[in-house]
Amino acid sequence: MSINTIFDNEKVPEAFQVPLNKEYNSYLLNGEIKKWSGKTAKVFSPIYAKNDQGVLGPVVLGTVPVMGEEDALEALDAANAAFANGTGSWPTLRVGERIKCVEKFTRLMVLKRQEVVNFIMWEIGKTLPDAEKEFDRTVDYIYDTIEELKELDRNSARVQMHSNVYAQIRRGPLGVVLCLGPYNYPLNETFCLLIPALIMGNTTVFKPAKYGVILITPLLEAFAEAFPKGVVNILFGRGREVATPIVKSGRVEVLALIGNSKSANALQSHHPKKNRLRLVLGLEAKNPAIVLPDTDMDLAVEECVLGSLSYNGQRCTALKMLFVHEDILEEFNKKFVARLKQLKYGLPWEKGVQLTPLPEPGKPKYIKELIDDAVSKGANIINENGGKTNHSFVFPAVLYPVNDSMNIYHEEQFGPVIPIISFKDIQEPIDSIVNSNYGQQVSLFSKKADTLFPLIDSLVNQVCRVNINSQCQRGPDVFPFVGRKDSAVSTLSVRAALRSFSIRTLVACKNNELNKGILNDILDNNKSNFVSTNYIL
Ligand code: G3H
Repeated sequence: MSINTIFDNEKVPEAFQVPLNKEYNSYLLNGEIKKWSGKTAKVFSPIYAKNDQGVLGPVVLGTVPVMGEEDALEALDAANAAFANGTGSWPTLRVGERIKCVEKFTRLMVLKRQEVVNFIMWEIGKTLPDAEKEFDRTVDYIYDTIEELKELDRNSARVQMHSNVYAQIRRGPLGVVLCLGPYNYPLNETFCLLIPALIMGNTTVFKPAKYGVILITPLLEAFAEAFPKGVVNILFGRGREVATPIVKSGRVEVLALIGNSKSANALQSHHPKKNRLRLVLGLEAKNPAIVLPDTDMDLAVEECVLGSLSYNGQRCTALKMLFVHEDILEEFNKKFVARLKQLKYGLPWEKGVQLTPLPEPGKPKYIKELIDDAVSKGANIINENGGKTNHSFVFPAVLYPVNDSMNIYHEEQFGPVIPIISFKDIQEPIDSIVNSNYGQQVSLFSKKADTLFPLIDSLVNQVCRVNINSQCQRGPDVFPFVGRKDSAVSTLSVRAALRSFSIRTLVACKNNELNKGILNDILDNNKSNFVSTNYIL
C-alpha cells in the first residue's frame, strides 16, 4: 500500500507553503515581544519528506524556545503585577473598554488567517477545510463572547432591593489564569479559554500545547498591541518546566486546561492552597454510539464514520466505541467498512482529503498495540488495509468483535481505530456507560421516539449531551460543553465560560438616607466602574 505522506517541495501549492527550518524565538512577556536566546527544541511536522541527502524524515519546521522555571515565574510576576490583587487597571477597567481591546485583537488576528491556517495543517496535519473552520469558528466565538458579555453587563447594570438592602451584583475577575490548550484544537480550544478569561478582567499566562505551537507566533504582535502590559503573557516549553512552578507558587487562581486528567491532576496537586485554585478542565472522553435495531442505517453509518474519523478520531468528542445491535450488525459492519473505504487519505491541503498524518510521534505505535491486544483476545480487523502504517500515517482499523477484556474497550484511543461491540440487550451498553470513567456524550441511533425516550431519560444523567441520530460534537459553541466523572470540570460555552472565569461580587447597603445619598452620588456622577447603571449597547 502506498500512502503519500511524502511531499515534493515543488508540489506544495504556493498558498500553503510555510518557511522550513526557521527559528521562532519570540515570546510575549509583560507587554513586550522578547527574543529568546536560550535552549530550543525542533518542531517536526507529521508530514514526511526527503532531505538534501535523500533521507526520508519528518519535515523540520523550525525551532521554538524551551523555557524554564525562571521564565515562567517572570511571566507570573507580570500577570500578578497587572492584576495587582484586583486593583490593576485591567481588572478595574470598564467592561466596554476591555471589549474594545478584544475587538482590536480580533481585527489584527483576522489579518493572520492564512498564516495560522497553514501552520495548523503543517504542525498537526488537520485538513485545509477543518483548519479554516477552526480559525473562523474561533473568530465567531470571540464576537459571540463580546455580545454575551454586553448582555451580561446590561443585566447587571441595576441596583436591586431585597429585605431593605440595596445591592448591585456583577461578575468580577478571579485573578491570574494559567491557560493550557490541547494539540487537536490548538487555536480554537485555547482561545475558548483565554478570551473569556481575559475579557472578564483576569490576567493570564498561556503556554501552547506540545504540538501546534508555531501557529501561535503570528499572533504575538496582535496580543502585544491590543492588551495592556502584563495582561497576556505567552511562553513556550514543556508543561512540567513551565506550568508546574507557576502552580507551585500558589500565585495563580485558575487552572484552565484542555488535555488529559493525568497532567491536570499532577498540576493541581502542586498548588499550596488547593481550595483557592479554580479548575476549568476539558479532559478525556470515550463517547459511545448506540445503534438500535430500528435505525436509519445509512444515516447511522454516515454519522458514525464522521464521528469516529473526523480529524482521524483526534477529537475529545469523537465516537470512540460503537455499540451495534446484533440484529443489524452484519449490515452495519458491511456498510461502515464500505463507507470508510471511500475516505481519501493524503496531505492536508489536497482536495477532498479526510485522513491525514498524525502529529504525535508515538501514536502509530500505540494504535498498533491497541490493535494487537484486541486481535490477541479475539477481535478481527474487518476492513481492508486497516491499521496499515506508513511513518506518521495510520489507515483506520475497524475492530470486531470487541469486548471488555480488551484495552481498546477502556482506553481513549484518540486516533484512527474503531471498536465495534455487538449487543443483544440495551442494558449492555448502558452498563458500559455507567461503569465508564468518562461521561461526556453519547449518540443514539433509532427512527422511533418510543425506542429513544427511555434511553434519553436515563442517559442524560450519565453524560452531558445525548445526540439523536447524529455524531457527538461540541458545537454550536453557544451550547454548554461539559462532562461528568473524569471528562470535565466546569462548563464551557460562549455564555458559561464567562461565568467559569469570574465570581459574583456585590456592593450592598441598608436602605437609609445616608446610604441612598452615597449611592445616588456615585451613580449620578458616574464615579465608579462597578456601581454603575450605564448600559453598553
Ligand atoms: O477535542 C474536543 C473538541 O472540543 C471537539 O470539538 O466536537 O467541535 O470537534 P468538536
